Amino acid sequence: MTTTAVRSPDTTSSRIAPGPRGHLLWGVLLEARRDVLGLLLGTARQYGDVARYRVGPMTSHLISHPDGVRRVLQDHVENYTKDHISYRLVSRVAGNGLLTSQGSFWLRQRRLAQPAFHRQRISAMAEGMTRATAAMLERWAAPAARGEPVTMVEEMMRLTLTIVGEALFGASVGDKVAVVGGAFNVLSEQTTTRFRTLRLLPPVLPTRYDREFRAASRALRSTVMDLITERRQGDGDRGDLLSMLMLARDEETGEAMTDEQLRDEVLTMLVAGHETTATTMSWVWALLEQHPHVEAKLHAELDAVLGGRLPTAGDVPQLGYTRMVVEEAMRLYPPAYVYSRAVKEDDVIGGFRIPGGTMVDVSPYVTHRHPDFWERPDEFLPERFSPEAAAQRPRYAYFPFSGGPRQCIGNGFAMMEAQLILATVAQRYRPRCVPGHVLAPEPLITLRPKGGLPMNLESRTA
Ligand code: HEM
Repeated sequence: MTTTAVRSPDTTSSRIAPGPRGHLLWGVLLEARRDVLGLLLGTARQYGDVARYRVGPMTSHLISHPDGVRRVLQDHVENYTKDHISYRLVSRVAGNGLLTSQGSFWLRQRRLAQPAFHRQRISAMAEGMTRATAAMLERWAAPAARGEPVTMVEEMMRLTLTIVGEALFGASVGDKVAVVGGAFNVLSEQTTTRFRTLRLLPPVLPTRYDREFRAASRALRSTVMDLITERRQGDGDRGDLLSMLMLARDEETGEAMTDEQLRDEVLTMLVAGHETTATTMSWVWALLEQHPHVEAKLHAELDAVLGGRLPTAGDVPQLGYTRMVVEEAMRLYPPAYVYSRAVKEDDVIGGFRIPGGTMVDVSPYVTHRHPDFWERPDEFLPERFSPEAAAQRPRYAYFPFSGGPRQCIGNGFAMMEAQLILATVAQRYRPRCVPGHVLAPEPLITLRPKGGLPMNLESRTA
């Protein structure tokens, strides 16, 4: 009998990764607060694929090579946990749901939720997605006729919150969207500020700021809990995500989720599933204006495939260029532009020691612009996402939805939603930034265009 020697990866390197020294006490914290994207990109460009820095008391490593990203998110995922302050802050908003939970509890919840995101289930939601988009277009008719701009980020937020809300609860969510949206704005803004300023204690003080946080959090939780209670009292399967989650049973124990678990999963899906798609779509509009030849090609596809009618789930496979436009927008401006993991035990990435007890950061924003994998990385070229071109790249050169076991559960939902929104709106309007508006990214929880992106709605049919 022959034996094959299996070589475990070398975890004994003593090389410390290079990186900016930063301030003696707070490391690169001030730079991160001033310009986090510049800090991340500049660090990778200057120090290479593994760079080390200190953010306040935390030592962290920026991993930008796709092989390193693969090790963190997939191959050695058990060594890279979510015991990071950013997840503690998110859990104050979304509780202990899929995004923040870990270990066997996360695995059980993920197994329970996964069937709700099956391709067929998502296809059945397509009609709701286009209906909500068409309703937005009706609202737009008045400002368009008066030549008034809309604030595109707000419009997209409202639309995607309505879509994910209806996917979860059915049309019953209707008037609650405004309450939920208002509460989210407060929580999202405060969570970013608290993280940036290392104001990490729970919001328990009697100050106005902390009171506002608590009130928004209460409003959000009680709205979601009311919807769950209403459903418990009503009829069974309504075919929406909430029904799926309520009816799901653990394979081994036969147990269902408690109301509190349901609430946290629903809150998580509202949090993770609306701002991300809204910022993606906002960037799409801005980039299309800047690239008229891309816009013309998109219009040609929409005219050929749809000829003026509303798109359906069945059209989506034919809308290949539409998909490529969305994917390229997420390459340049990935909504989740950086996320972090705590290192459990010593590891080696790219020949550098990654000590247990430190942190790693992976940044789609940085890796998506890595010059070894992307030619002319700063240019908007949707053709990069033709199936042939995409097949040439390593898996983790592009990871807007993360990867491995903790990959976004809403990936398919979001891609269908983005394609349907784009196809519906772009047949009717050509949004144009108001004169003088300067386009710039604003890295909050997600990567938004700064200033809300005020745009005039030029009609395509007029
Ligand atoms: C363009 C849209 C979206 C982007 C770019 C995106 C991106 C991501 C990323 C990067 C993660 C991993 C985060 C981490 O590890 O910290 C994630 C996780 C997650 N996303 Fe999304 N997402 C999008 C839309 C959605 C939608 C529409 C939903 C639900 C309807 C959703 C639900 C979730 C959930 C529940 C998780 C946690 C999964 C787990 O750990 O098991 N996302 N998403």
